[in-house]
Amino acid sequence: MSTLPDPAQHRKVDHAIEPLIYRRWSPRALSGEAITDEEMLTLFEAARWAPSTYNEQEWHFLYARRDTPQWPAFFGLLMKDNQTWCQHAAMLVVILSHKVFSKNGKPNPVHLFDCGSAFENLALQGTAMGLVVHGMAGFDFERARRELQVPDDYDIAAMFAVGRPGDPEQLPEKLRQMEVPSDRRPVQQSIQEGRLSETLTLNPTTGGYENHHHHSGNSRGAAACKHQRAAHELCPSARGGERTLSDSKA
Ligand SMILES: Cc1cc2nc3c(=O)[nH]c(=O)nc-3n(C[C@H](O)[C@H](O)[C@H](O)COP(=O)(O)O)c2cc1C
Repeated sequence: MSTLPDPAQHRKVDHAIEPLIYRRWSPRALSGEAITDEEMLTLFEAARWAPSTYNEQEWHFLYARRDTPQWPAFFGLLMKDNQTWCQHAAMLVVILSHKVFSKNGKPNPVHLFDCGSAFENLALQGTAMGLVVHGMAGFDFERARRELQVPDDYDIAAMFAVGRPGDPEQLPEKLRQMEVPSDRRPVQQSIQEGRLSETLTLNPTTGGYENHHHHSGNSRGAAACKHQRAAHELCPSARGGERTLSDSKA
């Protein structure tokens, strides 16, 4: 039986960070084995300690474990591609997010942000425990609301699957090819000192926006520029397809 690839062999960080962060990834090869009650509660405990606005703790997790009466309803929400690999998951979870402040019922503009923090805490804890935690947007949100009886003051944030790592050889060909830890764009393309005043170009390959620092003359800009040129060479349509960030909002 082959094992999952090791992210440390596939991911090169440009600045030294805690290995747990780049060791977390989203494999689909799951073994079908259960997780224990204690493992499950440990995952949710990690989510519990996430930061949130006014300590609102907006997250609420609905879960179903395999081979329980709850499982079919949760599994049935998933799109076909996700069902293919989630049939071997140990647990499916729907993350609900309380949209309004508990003290006054007013809209909370960062409720989903806080749920994202809780999910990442849980995913990192799972990684440390040798479990797979894999986020999912590929499910029927409306059906989830209906079938799981989610009230209006909660948003459905996302789902995720938890399981024990499996054998990639058991995956269908299409998914097996994707079973490699992914890379990220360079950090310089995600940050900007000061205001967002420069033209950004949408890179259709990465789906990200790239800064135009071509003539800025600073070394960080030059590094980003080198990468952009490479991206343009690979993807000529990026050259003609310039869009500003404000265009994209229109
Ligand atoms: C909110 C969210 C939704 C996602 N939806 C899906 C999904 O429906 N199906 C899937 O196979 N992967 C899904 N993913 C996994 C992402 O594709 C994955 O996190 C991303 O490509 C980065 O790779 P990594 O997590 O392995 O580092 C989702 C991830 C997140 C955080």
